[in-house]
Amino acid sequence: MRLGWARIAAVVTVVGSMGASGAVAWQLGSRPAERWIETLSRPERVKQLRIDDVIARLRLKPGDLLADIGAGSGAFTLPFARAVAPGGKVYAVEVDQALVDHIADRARTEDVANVTSVLGEFTDPNLPTQDIDLAFFHDVLHHIEDRSGYLKNLSRYIKSEGRIAVIERGHRRPDQREMHMSQEQVTGWMADVGFRLAEEYYLFDGGKWFVVYSRH
Ligand SMILES: C[S@@+](CC[C@H](N)C(=O)[O-])C[C@H]1O[C@@H](n2cnc3c(N)ncnc32)[C@H](O)[C@@H]1O
Repeated sequence: MRLGWARIAAVVTVVGSMGASGAVAWQLGSRPAERWIETLSRPERVKQLRIDDVIARLRLKPGDLLADIGAGSGAFTLPFARAVAPGGKVYAVEVDQALVDHIADRARTEDVANVTSVLGEFTDPNLPTQDIDLAFFHDVLHHIEDRSGYLKNLSRYIKSEGRIAVIERGHRRPDQREMHMSQEQVTGWMADVGFRLAEEYYLFDGGKWFVVYSRH
């Protein structure tokens, strides 16, 4: 059954009363931040992310400026930051202040100096630079309500030879049709903002795709 917006609003209101604001709850997939941190940090999940292989495919190098959009608990943020040091930096963008704070704490505890946590807006990552080499989405784009509008805003922060990487399953739960999204749709939204499919990697099983877009 397709959920109507009124029904979603009702769910959001209930979750909102549990702690998160309505809009945040929707974008978080109706889960409070502490539960996200616990879920996203599970060692068995982190192992399946194949972070070192992703870093190798993305050819990250010292000096790169990255934006980890929807960074969650920072699973990619910290290894990315180590890969772009010295001289590089990772902006970890989140829409929930608790996650922004969590990533900043992790970076401090793990002595990683080149991470900046950024509180983004639902429609705009609010990055402090327009020189991003690579913006990265892992398991995030389907959480964003206005994906095409978000990509349009994001494109303004990416330098001319910069790239946008997306790793996604597109979300297939039948009870959450609003989160469904295909690779073809993403390629279409990217084309609207001047990015074309540049690289495609077959790293994951289970219908999870890994694609990289650039302007060239
Ligand atoms: C499934 S988690 C993935 C986290 C991380 N990328 C990972 O794979 O470990 C999705 C994350 O996207 C974030 N998110 C949702 N909408 C967002 C938006 N508009 N801008 C930035 N982050 C967003 C959520 O807060 C959540 O932490």
